[in-house]
Amino acid sequence: MNGWDREYLQNKEVYLKLFDNIMSREQETNVDFLENNIKKVINRKYAVIVNSGTDALHFALISHGIKPNDEVLVSNFSWISTASCISMVGATPVFCDVELNTYHMCLDSIKKMCSNKTRAIIYPHLFGNMSYIKDILLFCKEKNIIFIEDSCQALGSSLNDLKAGVIGDCSTFSFNANKVIAGIAGGGAFLTDCEKKADIVKKLRRMGKNKDFELLGRNSKMLLFNAEVINFRLQKLNEYKKQRQKIANFYNTSLKKLPIKIQSVSNDCDNVYQRYTIRLKDKKTRDFLCDRLKANIHYDKPLSENSMYKNIQYKSDDCKNAKTICDTILSLPNHPWVTIDEQNKILNIIEMSL
Ligand SMILES: Cc1ncc(COP(=O)(O)O)c(C=O)c1O
Repeated sequence: MNGWDREYLQNKEVYLKLFDNIMSREQETNVDFLENNIKKVINRKYAVIVNSGTDALHFALISHGIKPNDEVLVSNFSWISTASCISMVGATPVFCDVELNTYHMCLDSIKKMCSNKTRAIIYPHLFGNMSYIKDILLFCKEKNIIFIEDSCQALGSSLNDLKAGVIGDCSTFSFNANKVIAGIAGGGAFLTDCEKKADIVKKLRRMGKNKDFELLGRNSKMLLFNAEVINFRLQKLNEYKKQRQKIANFYNTSLKKLPIKIQSVSNDCDNVYQRYTIRLKDKKTRDFLCDRLKANIHYDKPLSENSMYKNIQYKSDDCKNAKTICDTILSLPNHPWVTIDEQNKILNIIEMSL
């Protein structure tokens, strides 16, 4: 599903040279070069590189002072970290439903689930797609709710020239293997325009250390080689995006005639297509096709239905749309190195199965 083994073969010389260069130097952990490049790409004042997107989200909440008893609104259709970071700070995740066509958080559900304890919202740009969220942002401003942009899946996407990662009070990115730009050992970034918040996250990733240990942090520093790999791949972001869009266009055109739904993408969205997903008519059809394609499901249940939430305090809307999407969704391989032959084979299997 990710294709980085193929990318390695195309760039083997570069990676071997990088490795040799790093191994011949004194050990160092300075990743300023990557932070400078990320903040330039996104157009934010500060970027702090950490070890995962999960750490970036967790540190985002700590730096904004979210604490036990606070409530944080969150999508019920996302990767688990979008919500588990809320429980990690002892606050209560409040699960909201999503729109059936875009898979993005739904304003009605946000309004319904908002209470006088709501301090923040974590909003994921799911699968790289971006929707108009002016009304959600206005609502948050009115209610003094901190808007945390979970851009982990959307590096390279934009809506009307507004890049994913510049919209919220702060934003987060992930470099795990299924992302548009990946490290060899994952990774994450926290972005903000507030120097104070950036400084807090810098301390948190270093066991809370400044002059002495000021905060309860952990070791979330990135390995230098990993940072160099991410930095090299970052230069190819546009090239990889174009290839993902080309594959998405192929699927869009060829699947049109089949009884399949696809995620609605606004004409104004330059979607990086971190994933290309389809929706089938019911769970049985989806499971059958998933088996035949040996494809993956993102995600098979709403976050609130995971067993960990039996033991953790949370609140949830009834989230009918999230449930419907989870029952019918399927991800098709769409990384930049999927060949035309492979795309045709995938299409063939879908056509034969429906
Ligand atoms: C939407 C979203 N948020 C957060 C994360 C967490 O990132 P990481 O795997 O780097 O911890 C992911 C990763 O899959 C994600 O897709």
